[in-house]
Amino acid sequence: MLSSRSLGGKVALVTGGGSGIGAACVRALAEEGVSVLVVDYDAEAAAAIAAEVGGSAFAADVTDPDACIAMVAAALDALGRLDVAVNNAGVGPAGLIPTADISVDDWRGIRVNAVGPGTTETSLTRDAIASEPEKIVARVPLGRVAVPEDIAPLVVFLASDASAFCTGGWYAVDGGWTAQ
Ligand SMILES: NC(=O)c1ccc[n+]([C@@H]2O[C@H](COP(=O)([O-])OP(=O)(O)OC[C@H]3O[C@@H](n4cnc5c(N)ncnc54)[C@H](O)[C@@H]3O)[C@@H](O)[C@H]2O)c1
Repeated sequence: MLSSRSLGGKVALVTGGGSGIGAACVRALAEEGVSVLVVDYDAEAAAAIAAEVGGSAFAADVTDPDACIAMVAAALDALGRLDVAVNNAGVGPAGLIPTADISVDDWRGIRVNAVGPGTTETSLTRDAIASEPEKIVARVPLGRVAVPEDIAPLVVFLASDASAFCTGGWYAVDGGWTAQ
């Protein structure tokens, strides 16, 4: 997909990496040579995905600021550095320090981007999609819902040096839903 120069040797953590979109991100990043710490409050799910890609697992609830501090420490301990945080579980490690207390200088060089998935078939949405599939699909110009593997490639791009000038952006992967 991307040149190995873009991502090889980097270290990422993926919260909610035990299932759905997060698990697809773990697999896609690992395919590009990234060492991944799979973080999930479902310890078994995290361990299973980590084992699949030769990564490391860490059980944490990202709504707990102390657990987020421990998660970052675990990445540094297990993998020696941290280049990319995919804050997929919805609440990210901003709880480490109140965002407003981070100095402008500390933010320089850190790229922050958001991915906006359309309806994606995962354990979160499977029942809702099954309950009214035609209605949901009718809202999507491309005529289908997403699978997690539709979302992960953009995350890989944003984690790579190929997106070196992208920051502060929001990127839809929604089959054209928001463009209507
Ligand atoms: N599926 C969609 O249609 C869709 C659309 C837009 C945005 N999203 C967002 O994408 C993200 C992933 O959703 P998904 O559909 O892959 O869901 P999913 O239920 O398949 O996977 C979520 C994973 O996160 C873990 N998790 C949940 N809360 C956690 C917490 N507090 N701490 C640690 N781990 C936690 C779960 O154990 C699970 O493994 C979510 O933030 C969701 O809001 C999903």
